[in-house]
Amino acid sequence: MITSQTGGLGLLGHPAGHSKSPEMMNAALQMMDAPYVYLAFDVTPAVLKQAVEGLKALKFKGWNVTIPHKTSIMEYLDGVAESAREIGAVNTVVYQDGKWTGHNTDGTGYLRSLKEETSLDLSKQRVVILGAGGAARAVGYALATAGVPKVTIANRTLDKADRLAEHLSRWTSTEAIAISDCQDEVREADLVVNTTSVGMFPRINETPIPADWLHHGQIVSDLVYNPRETALLQAAKLKGAQIHCGLGMLVYQAATALELWLDKPVPIQLMKQVLEASLS
Ligand code: ATR
Repeated sequence: MITSQTGGLGLLGHPAGHSKSPEMMNAALQMMDAPYVYLAFDVTPAVLKQAVEGLKALKFKGWNVTIPHKTSIMEYLDGVAESAREIGAVNTVVYQDGKWTGHNTDGTGYLRSLKEETSLDLSKQRVVILGAGGAARAVGYALATAGVPKVTIANRTLDKADRLAEHLSRWTSTEAIAISDCQDEVREADLVVNTTSVGMFPRINETPIPADWLHHGQIVSDLVYNPRETALLQAAKLKGAQIHCGLGMLVYQAATALELWLDKPVPIQLMKQVLEASLS
């Protein structure tokens, strides 16, 4: 029940109306008996500063941040956690010890979901990441700092792949390659992760690489969650590879944010069920 003691949590984004986070977060908060409500706010870049000042004045416990504010939010915070600084993006703001701190739960959320859903030994994985944008940065950082021995960045724009590979080389061995030329690297990989938007609704028949590059014994992971099983994952399954779909990352990045705000165990299965129901 909402009372005068109910505190605020939420999401700042533009657009924000399509977000499934309110359903997922409020179901979890209710189950946890936590006295908070989670709201989505459509905030344009022009009013981000005022929106943040408003949330601070209203004593929100924290909030999530999505496109297009993941970098620009940093200037309104007292500090940024190391992982968010290295990824270059904040998706969760937490009020703690009198300070507003920016975190990034996308990378850790991805890794938690991957560990949960696949038989993965990170210390042995040769990884190919398809794409070199914001999502690739978060996933690449999480994998590189978790002990993966080699990460290959394959991207349409080679220059961007070069820059991300150079950044990640502080933590692991890396290389950059054009996505059209990564056949050998994909064949030799234990884990292939699609972070591009290729295959997303409505262009559901497209794959970022030819499906016959994939094979049995690999894990193929796709951050696209609409459709839940992309053409890439369907092809990987037919080849006998293990598949990992993008829904898990969405659930775990939200669960990790809730843990940061409330420091309590979170009902992850319930969040997953609510998200699946809201997407179907
Ligand atoms: P996000 O934050 O979701 O990662 P982004 O930063 O815009 O989004 O990055 C999108 C990624 O998908 C990029 O790596 C992009 O490749 P380019 O750097 O060459 O633009 C990749 N991408 C998008 N559409 C693509 C397509 N049709 N084929 C191949 N790669 C594509």
